[in-house]
Parts: sequence; structure tokens; C-alpha cells
Amino acid sequence: MDKGTLLIHNGHEMDPVTGALGVMVYQTSTYYRKVITEMQEFDYSRGSNPTRKALEETIATLEGGAKGYAFASGMSAISSVLGLLAAGDHIVIAEDVYGGSRYIIETFYQRWGLTMTAVDTSNPENILKAIQPNTRALFLESPSNPLLKITNLSACIAIAKEHRLLSIVDNTFMTPYLQQPLKLGADIVVHSATKFLGGHSDVISGLAVTATEELGQRLYQIQNSFGAVPGPWDAWLVIRGIKTLKARMDMQQATAGKLAEWLAGHKNVIAVNYPGLVGHPGRDVHLAQAVGGGAMLSFKTKTTEQALGFYKKIKLAAAAPSLGGVETIASYPVKMSHINMNAAERERMGITDNLIRIAVGLEAAEDLMADFDQALS
Ligand SMILES: Cc1ncc(COP(=O)(O)O)c(C=O)c1O
Repeated sequence: MDKGTLLIHNGHEMDPVTGALGVMVYQTSTYYRKVITEMQEFDYSRGSNPTRKALEETIATLEGGAKGYAFASGMSAISSVLGLLAAGDHIVIAEDVYGGSRYIIETFYQRWGLTMTAVDTSNPENILKAIQPNTRALFLESPSNPLLKITNLSACIAIAKEHRLLSIVDNTFMTPYLQQPLKLGADIVVHSATKFLGGHSDVISGLAVTATEELGQRLYQIQNSFGAVPGPWDAWLVIRGIKTLKARMDMQQATAGKLAEWLAGHKNVIAVNYPGLVGHPGRDVHLAQAVGGGAMLSFKTKTTEQALGFYKKIKLAAAAPSLGGVETIASYPVKMSHINMNAAERERMGITDNLIRIAVGLEAAEDLMADFDQALS
């Protein structure tokens, strides 16, 4: 089935109880026990809730996985997945994953005995060099955040398989509409559903999908025990957002392509990072594993003053953290997503004070260009 059709007709287009179009918001924490001695599928909402279940089944279908789980945020999805690892384990992560993912490993998980090596995964050789006898997992993100570097997912996942590592891919930037890491062999996909899946900057939510039932059962234990679950309203908002993902993504991606080309020719811009742009070093790899360049880009101005001036002057784009909403968002990585990263490390990676990250929304490309032009002048 066409992916766009699947977004609408994924088994949850009708409420199973009432026949209503779409799934209801089951705003309940508990359920009557039919037989007092027997656990039921819906027993207590930390364990299971019909609205959440609909979202979980929807994301599992869209990613082509065995089991889907919904969480209260992208970070709770990621931290729950990391809970599959044990003290004494080692994880290799892409050095430019979302700053928060790296932060929780470096602070909390490290404290509990998980060690980490961060490498530039755009060269799979670096992963091989980082593997130790106790390495158990590989955490990837492509395109990366905020530099839009590309990792060859198939090649890296093959290395993970060879070394029996759990491969985890953060697919927030692309969504299953544009990229399906499980189909490339990954074990687990995670999402900040706050972003393109929710799509309207009105909900914080996270998702994880496992390739196998067995892995799903292990993750369910963590989800149910730690309880970092979304409430039914939030699950419902993500379900609703997903229905329009194709329409939004198609337009946002087309606009991002135009904007990237236009920025590349702007006199005050010295670099543009967009995987769909001719000349992007990872373009071929990216287009072999994803459908299009996506709706995220970043660029560098000639000076930091120009970057800071841009945020003050833009009118259409919101100067804010986050991404994936219907409104264009201009965020400042050094003071937002990567604020907790060591400054020297940030600088070495190219996350500099003149770097601006753009999440392209649904405004007309021409209006965004006019706004950016006045803000860059
Ligand atoms: C790629 C990526 N992964 C994970 C997260 C964390 O998600 P959340 O903010 O929903 O906890 C973010 C948030 O910006 C993100 O951009």
C-alpha cells in the first residue's frame, strides 16, 4: 500500500467500540476487572490504554516493526530503550545525535555503569574502531542534528549485526514516511513524536518500535514499570497528526529544497547543510536510504552577529526550540539542543555560534525567502 494511504488506513480509522471515525480518547486510569483473579489487556492505564494502543500499533505498522510503544516524550522513549542495557555495557553513539540523547548517557547512564564512545558515524570505519569487548549497542541518527550529516544506515547496521550489537536509530527528522530504518535491518527505531509526527507544535510525545516481538516484550516491561507513558489526549493528538503527515512532509520538503538552494546563493551565508542539496557530501547515500532531503536544514552566516541579528529580525519563522510543526522554526543549536555539550567539543564538530537550524513549515517558500532576506541583511 502507498505510504500516504497507510497513514490514514492503518487499522485505526474506526473506533472498535463505537464505530466512530478514528479512535476515541479513553480518558481513564483503570478498568473493571471482569474476573477478579485474571489480568486483562486493559487493566490499568500505565500498562495499557486503548488510545495509546492505537498509536502504538499505528507507528509499528508505519515503521514495519513488530511492536510499537508510546512514551511521554522523545527523551523518555530514548531513556527507556537505553534501559535495555546493563551496568558494564558500552555503547557507540553518533557524535552529533540530538544533544539530549548524548547528555543522558554522559550524565545518568554513565553513573550507573554504562560507558560510551561518540564517533563520527558518517564514516562507518569509526564505529569499527570504537567497538570494545563489552560493546552492546549502536545508536545512530541520520540526518544528524543540527549539521545534517549522513550516516550510511545499512553499512553501520551491518557492522552492528556482525558484532551482535543492538542497533537503535533515531528517525525523528525523516519519519517513517521518508525513511524506514527497520527495513534496513535496525533493531529499534525511536522518535520524538513531538516533531513531524505530531506535526503541530502542540504535544510532547515519544515512540519506539522494535523489529521483533521478543525485543518488544523487553521494552514493554520497561514502559510498564517506569511508566513514562503519554496520557490518552496526547496519544490522540499524535494519531491525528500522523494522518496528515504526507501532505505536510511533501510540502515542507519541497519548500526546504527551494530554501536551501536560495540560501546557498545568499551573500551573507557561508555554508548550507541540506542532504537534498547538490554538493552535500552525503547526498547519494541519503537518497539511497530515504525519499527526499526532508524538511530540516541548517546554515552558517558570515559572522555570529549576523546570526544573532537573524533571530531578532525574523517575523514568519519562530525563533524557538523544536521542529516539525506547521510553522517554520529557527532554532539556535549552541543555546538550545546542544547547550549541554562541552563547548570545545561543539566547536570541533562545527556546531558554532553562527549556525542557524531551520525546521521548514507550511508557509509559502517565497514568503520565507523574503523574511529570511530581510533578517540576514
Ligand atoms: C532528533 C531528536 N530526538 C529526540 C528528541 C527528544 O524529544 P522530546 O523533546 O520529545 O523529548 C529531540 C528533541 O528535540 C530530537 O530533535
